[in-house]
Amino acid sequence: MLTNPDRLKLAIQKSGRLTDHSTDLLRRCGLQFSRGKDQLVGFGENMPFDLLFVRDDDIPDLVEEDVCDLGIVGLNIIEEKRLEMMSLGKTPTFSVLRSLDFGRCRLSIAVPEGFQYEGLRSLHGQRIATTYPFVLQRFLTTHAIDAQIVTLSGAVEIAPRLGRADVICDLVSTGSTLLANRLREVETVLESHAVIVQTPIALSEIKRSWVERLLLRIDGVQQVRESKYIMLHAPRSALSQIRTLLPGSESPTIIPLEGQDDRVAVHAVCKENVFWETLESLKAAGASAMLVLPVEKMLT
Ligand code: PRP
Ligand code: ZN
Repeated sequence: MLTNPDRLKLAIQKSGRLTDHSTDLLRRCGLQFSRGKDQLVGFGENMPFDLLFVRDDDIPDLVEEDVCDLGIVGLNIIEEKRLEMMSLGKTPTFSVLRSLDFGRCRLSIAVPEGFQYEGLRSLHGQRIATTYPFVLQRFLTTHAIDAQIVTLSGAVEIAPRLGRADVICDLVSTGSTLLANRLREVETVLESHAVIVQTPIALSEIKRSWVERLLLRIDGVQQVRESKYIMLHAPRSALSQIRTLLPGSESPTIIPLEGQDDRVAVHAVCKENVFWETLESLKAAGASAMLVLPVEKMLT
């Protein structure tokens, strides 16, 4: 099933912070897939995509080496891979197609409870445990900090307790891992979010057209998440003020109201969320009969 040359192979994280968001995004893009017994492959039933569920750390290599055509992975992992390859005199050639609106996190330095942290100079001479040695080294070099990097393959948060390191440099999303391990975040090394990447090898015509369709749908899905359709009645005289109050909307549609010359209906797509405060300001400007609806799909 994975050898059909016209089907796109897309690598996503097997289990972790990006897994549900990635499958949810693909479903919203219209992809229906069934997951095999081994759970490692998802077969696209209505679009020529096969999903490979893999460790996120492996995704840059799978895409760079053209084992997969596409991958959804965090910038943190992309950046680490890029620096690692550069240290070997190579440059990655896969391309980042889109930033995705999930997987927000940061790579941060955190210190154990009781560690007297007084700014970056406190890191001099410390052992820092991380799974991101290249990104961390760049940070240390930039700030002229002389510290020892202890490269681990996981479970970084327990390294100080095991006596393997003094402080850590790890991903922080909600912060609950740090809290549970009595660690305090002190410096941000890198901000990250999910991206979709593509193999450097040229795709066949049919694959290329499916990637384009997928990207257009991703753009639509991402716009829709924040967008609202708003309908209201307003005095004609207040129209210009009302337009300035509608968040992120282009030209609204103005519709006459039967039997009322001084009032009109206004319909608009707001590309930002519409909060209660906005509705209150609209009401103060003379608007009434306000309705805010979610947008299901959008293609611009
Ligand atoms: C990261 C990191 C922490 C956790 C932090 O792991 O290693 O364990 O997320 O998240 P929190 O602030 O919400 O607690 P990741 O999901 O990248 O998994 P992996 O390192 O096993 O690939
Ligand atoms: Zn990982």
